[in-house]
Amino acid sequence: MEHNGSYSGHNGSYSSHNGHVSLVGHGDNFESQTILESKDLDAWFGSHHVVKSVSLHFFSRTVSAIIGPSGCGKSTFLRCLNRMHEEIPGARAKGVVNFQGKNIYDMFSEPANVRRHIGMVFQKPNPFPAMSIFENVIIGLKLAGVKKGYVLNDIAEACLKQVGLWDEVKDKLSAPGLSLSGGQQQRLCIARALAMAPEVILMDEPTSALDPISTARIEELLVELKKTVSIVIVTHNMQQAARISDTTAFLLSGDLVEFGRTGEIFTNPRKSETERYITGRFG
Ligand SMILES: Nc1ncnc2c1ncn2[C@@H]1O[C@H](COP(=O)(O)OP(=O)(O)OP(=O)(O)O)[C@@H](O)[C@H]1O
Ligand SMILES: [Mg+2]
Repeated sequence: MEHNGSYSGHNGSYSSHNGHVSLVGHGDNFESQTILESKDLDAWFGSHHVVKSVSLHFFSRTVSAIIGPSGCGKSTFLRCLNRMHEEIPGARAKGVVNFQGKNIYDMFSEPANVRRHIGMVFQKPNPFPAMSIFENVIIGLKLAGVKKGYVLNDIAEACLKQVGLWDEVKDKLSAPGLSLSGGQQQRLCIARALAMAPEVILMDEPTSALDPISTARIEELLVELKKTVSIVIVTHNMQQAARISDTTAFLLSGDLVEFGRTGEIFTNPRKSETERYITGRFG
């Protein structure tokens, strides 16, 4: 387990110089800027210590997967990355989360402002039940004070196009968000997150409630979206992590066991726990 965001191993390792991080694999070099980084991040529910000094880099224009057995702290860690964890009564976090080099836990950092830059999509599609498809997409902008109808219309159309939903909903924008299928609702929720123009979207098992076709559509969408938004995805689906992510972090009992390029983690893990997990021998 490493602490300062830099270690070097024989494969899948990374090193950091002035915030510019190179992930070194075999042959092809993966190089990108760190957009989000946790440093010695701990989280508790009451006295239950569920995230233990996790230091991890997330790179711009990548899909980063977080894997690990049920209860190992994946969702808790994810919620610490945009200050949602502290909203739960009795929950607290300690440590640093740097977004574009600035600690989101600084006393001057407003949680609501943090979430405009670091959005979230949940496991179960959760369109606001009383709202139409259109309102679901633009509600965050409205709450942020955007009033001009043409601006809201343009952004709604652009975001619904981005998630591949526009053609399916353009003639029924005033229908309830809940009238859509599960897969469509999840794309609507991604459109809602995109409307705020976040730099990062955190996704907690976004396809686990969906059928294989809707899952494939979301996976394609994430690979497309990473050109403009950095994605951090928690998934129990090893094939999904292997298919769409660039880096993978493996958590076990709240500890970061291993982090590296997805190709390395899945073909040549350094830790026996990682190997046992990805080959389905526990968790
Ligand atoms: N609201 C809560 N109150 C108290 N304890 C909680 C709460 N949510 C989670 N926990 C506990 O914190 C630990 C980590 O939970 P977390 O939800 O982060 O795990 P996870 O890795 O996301 O699991 P899963 O894969 O099942 O979603 C677990 O022991 C869990 O019981
Ligand atoms: Mg979870």
